[in-house]
Amino acid sequence: MERVQDSGISTDTYDRRTEYMIQTGNPVFEEENERLASPEIIAQDGDLEVSLRPKTLNDYIGQDQVKQNLAVYIEAARRRSEPLDHVLLYGPPGLGKTTLSGIIAHELGVNLRITSGPAIEKPGDLAALLTNLGRGDVLFVDEIHRLSRAVEEILYPALEDRALDIMIGKGPSARSIRVDLQPFTLVGATTRAGQLSAPLRDRFGIVQRLELYTPEQLCDIIRRSAMLLDIPCETDGAMELARRSRGTPRIANRLLRRVRDFADVLGTGVIDAKTTREALERLEIDELGLDKLDHRLLDMMIRGYHGGPVGLETLASAIGEEAVTLEDVCEPYLMQLGMLARTPRGRVATQLAYQHLGYPLEAGTAGQQYSLTDMLGG
Ligand SMILES: Nc1ncnc2c1ncn2[C@@H]1O[C@H](COP(=O)(O)OP(=O)(O)OP(=O)(O)O)[C@@H](O)[C@H]1O
Ligand SMILES: [Mg+2]
Repeated sequence: MERVQDSGISTDTYDRRTEYMIQTGNPVFEEENERLASPEIIAQDGDLEVSLRPKTLNDYIGQDQVKQNLAVYIEAARRRSEPLDHVLLYGPPGLGKTTLSGIIAHELGVNLRITSGPAIEKPGDLAALLTNLGRGDVLFVDEIHRLSRAVEEILYPALEDRALDIMIGKGPSARSIRVDLQPFTLVGATTRAGQLSAPLRDRFGIVQRLELYTPEQLCDIIRRSAMLLDIPCETDGAMELARRSRGTPRIANRLLRRVRDFADVLGTGVIDAKTTREALERLEIDELGLDKLDHRLLDMMIRGYHGGPVGLETLASAIGEEAVTLEDVCEPYLMQLGMLARTPRGRVATQLAYQHLGYPLEAGTAGQQYSLTDMLGG
């Protein structure tokens, strides 16, 4: 039940697009779902994602805290021959939640079943999944915040008592029967932990947050991927790419393939710092990994609202983007860079944002009060 996205675009199309970009210098990724710097999965990622997924905790780079904790819990469960406690993984898209669920199953030596919140439409769908699990198996539910209320209700006894309560018949003669399940582990993943209902959240014994990766960690991930894909890549090239990948392995892997095209056609076929810089300039991704959307957002905050504070919805409609896209896709990285701050009165562009976009800082604006040191301190 692996959810592999059907790209719908042939390899042929990729090549022609790349060729067009190289010849004309125009980017062709205009559609929203093809934003190259998007941490969400896009068509061109295809099954490359699957082939680059590390399979063991050892191969999983970064997220040290999460890895150390999981290693202990997995080892403890194995020693006691018990299933692992239910795990909730949360954090921005593309950081390796699905990957980690595969690793958990692999390290436990059990089967993995993959599904997602929206895919489980009826309680019966969940019942079918659960009754088919073997002893100790891992059920991975992606986007678990999107489970319907009715499905959640039957999940509770499954998580707590490893049993299903199934209603038979209708009306006054209806009765419920209890079906026992094999012990299993639920691994839930979500980009929006805040949207999970409290009773569901409370049923996870292990809750781990994934963080954006450092450029050094991304550099290691890029070098690993380049090796697996047989792409000649120098360390300075990998590092340059890493700095522009928004802390996100999915983006790093995607850009690696795009830069390879440029290296093959325009350069020596080797990914070095110079080729990477040239390629990403053409792809309109700047030296910190910001693309046109980030620039439009910051530009609007600075020029349209004197740096803020300005509400998310207002900003979204001002630049013609969905508020959730700004919140999930742009903001986490801009906040990590220290260019944007969330305040109770709205979003604020900081001094760094002014500097990066080349605007003089206006006297008396909110951004002045939110320098990077303030934010790190608070
Ligand atoms: N720690 C890591 N080390 C090496 N590669 C990684 C790591 N984390 C993620 N990746 C790579 O990044 C890609 C995206 O990871 P994954 O699909 O697990 O993200 P996700 O968090 O599940 O995203 P989404 O929220 O969209 O479901 C995978 O192809 C994987 O190879
Ligand atoms: Mg995923």
